[in-house]
Amino acid sequence: MLVTILLPLCVFFIFFNFMCRRPKNFPPGPTIVPVLGNILSLSLENPLQDFERLRKAYGNVYSLYLGPRPAVIVNGLQAMKEALVTKASDFAGRPQDLYVNDTTDRKGVILADYGPSWKEHRRFALMTLRNFGLGKQSMEERILGETEFIMNTLEKYIGSTLSPQLMFHNASSNIICQVLFGKRYDYNDEFIKVIVQCFTENAKLANGPWAMLYDSLPMIRCLPLPFMKSFENVKVCFMSVLAEHKRTRVPGEPRDFLDCYLDEMDKRSGDDGCLFSEQQLSMYALDLHFAGTDTTSNTLLTAFLYLMTHPDIQEHCQQEIDEVLKGKDKACFDDRNNMPYVQAVIHEVQRIANTVPLSVFHCTTKNTELMGYSIPKGTMIIPNLTSVLHEEGQWKSPHKFNPENFLNDQGDFVKPEAFMPFSAGPRMCLGEGLARMELFLITVTLLRKFKFIWPEDAGEPDFTPVYGVTLTPKPYRMKIQLRAMH
Ligand code: HEM
Ligand SMILES: *[C@@H]1O[C@H](CO)[C@@H](O)[C@H](O)[C@H]1NC(C)=O
Ligand SMILES: *[C@@H]1O[C@H](CO)[C@@H](O)[C@H](O)[C@H]1NC(C)=O
Ligand SMILES: *[C@@H]1O[C@H](CO)[C@@H](O)[C@H](O)[C@H]1NC(C)=O
Repeated sequence: MLVTILLPLCVFFIFFNFMCRRPKNFPPGPTIVPVLGNILSLSLENPLQDFERLRKAYGNVYSLYLGPRPAVIVNGLQAMKEALVTKASDFAGRPQDLYVNDTTDRKGVILADYGPSWKEHRRFALMTLRNFGLGKQSMEERILGETEFIMNTLEKYIGSTLSPQLMFHNASSNIICQVLFGKRYDYNDEFIKVIVQCFTENAKLANGPWAMLYDSLPMIRCLPLPFMKSFENVKVCFMSVLAEHKRTRVPGEPRDFLDCYLDEMDKRSGDDGCLFSEQQLSMYALDLHFAGTDTTSNTLLTAFLYLMTHPDIQEHCQQEIDEVLKGKDKACFDDRNNMPYVQAVIHEVQRIANTVPLSVFHCTTKNTELMGYSIPKGTMIIPNLTSVLHEEGQWKSPHKFNPENFLNDQGDFVKPEAFMPFSAGPRMCLGEGLARMELFLITVTLLRKFKFIWPEDAGEPDFTPVYGVTLTPKPYRMKIQLRAMH
């Protein structure tokens, strides 16, 4: 009897022990539980502390099993550079799991795997964004135009307080919409509401533990997922915008990103296996809107939180702005070269904001090595950007908000290598140019005209961010005063 019970148990145990072992020379990590992997060793609400513990125990490159699939977490500048820059193409894939396949239909660019479609679309977007004036006048005008709307909102609150969350969110969304669709949408427009709602529900899931659960637990896949539905809504909305563009466009005279893409489709219509299609375009436009909205508005929110709570830094910026803009009616992006302090503050805000803490997950495209460990093709890679942005040894004051991190002894602006809020390598944020222009122009224009004060009745400021795919400050209010123009 003992044998009939023990033998199967032994076989079972040996079998699972074998199944649940890391490949040879794979980065170390906690013991794997069958089926669930290491999910039980993480708290889904705030896994941050668990990760810190694991890093201490296993080093800068360690592994976790999320369900049955391994993920390698990369910490610190040295390992990050080796993966994203030195071995760029080895690490430039995106996990093509079921969740991604099911929701994106393998289209778009953010979650597209490393390959010809991603490459061509990325190149096209970089070129198009440049033609719309990144580095030229017209993109600046679009941003400054939207900043006027922010100022109109702020003017209504002079002497009182307002919560800036929606205001910044609407503004970032509108700037992308102008680039994509050639128009700003009324803040109450149905189209924008549908897009925003869909993405707040849906896309946050794609990079998080829920997508992994979806992939590891087949039973939840057949549940009717609410976010699938809202995704469909967006596509329907988008198709009507596209139809309108097709009706009104003049080929060769693009008004916006959509027109450029349609022109590109015309140009390529002769090619076999054409990579450019309307389905691609619809995913792409949504990708860009999603990637450019929360990130930028959360960074702006962080900026004003720190400017309000560090009035000396705010005043120092204002002095510099007044000096450089003396006699001019508006700022331009080139003014940044004469504003080292403002530049330092904005970069320090980005460092502290840490808006995309774990970047977007990567995936190895071939068998490769990292810091001496072997990593097979198809392994999920989680770049911990926080670990670089706060790394001791890389910054004058790694844990404290301090613009000196970006200033040398002469007061010139310097950018340390560890500044990578946009990630690094071939997958690096495609909207960096646009985002930096937005952050600079909006911050400078608002600081020139208004003084931002932490309300007396608001209690102590709480700087702990709300954890998610993008980090955002806790909701706060700001008190607005008009400055005397200098
Ligand atoms: C402060 C604002 C922003 C931050 C902090 C930010 C950060 C990032 C990060 C960390 C990634 C992942 C890179 C990687 O996988 O290694 C990324 C990717 C991306 N971002 Fe941004 N981003 C910002 C604004 C924007 C804007 C305004 C746009 C749109 C024009 C944009 C479009 C994209 C796209 C399309 C990707 C995917 C690139 C690819 O997979 O090839 N981002 N961003
Ligand atoms: C997702 O789609 C890609 C591309 O067609 C395919 O190679 C991959 O096997 C799919 N992944 C899953 C988990 O279905
Ligand atoms: C932002 O847009 C939403 C609707 O999408 C609207 O309800 C809200 O009033 C707008 N807020 C500001 C401050 O512009
Ligand atoms: C990323 O790095 C930060 C800072 O070192 C750490 O607190 C956090 O737990 C790390 N996250 C992961 C997933 O390793």
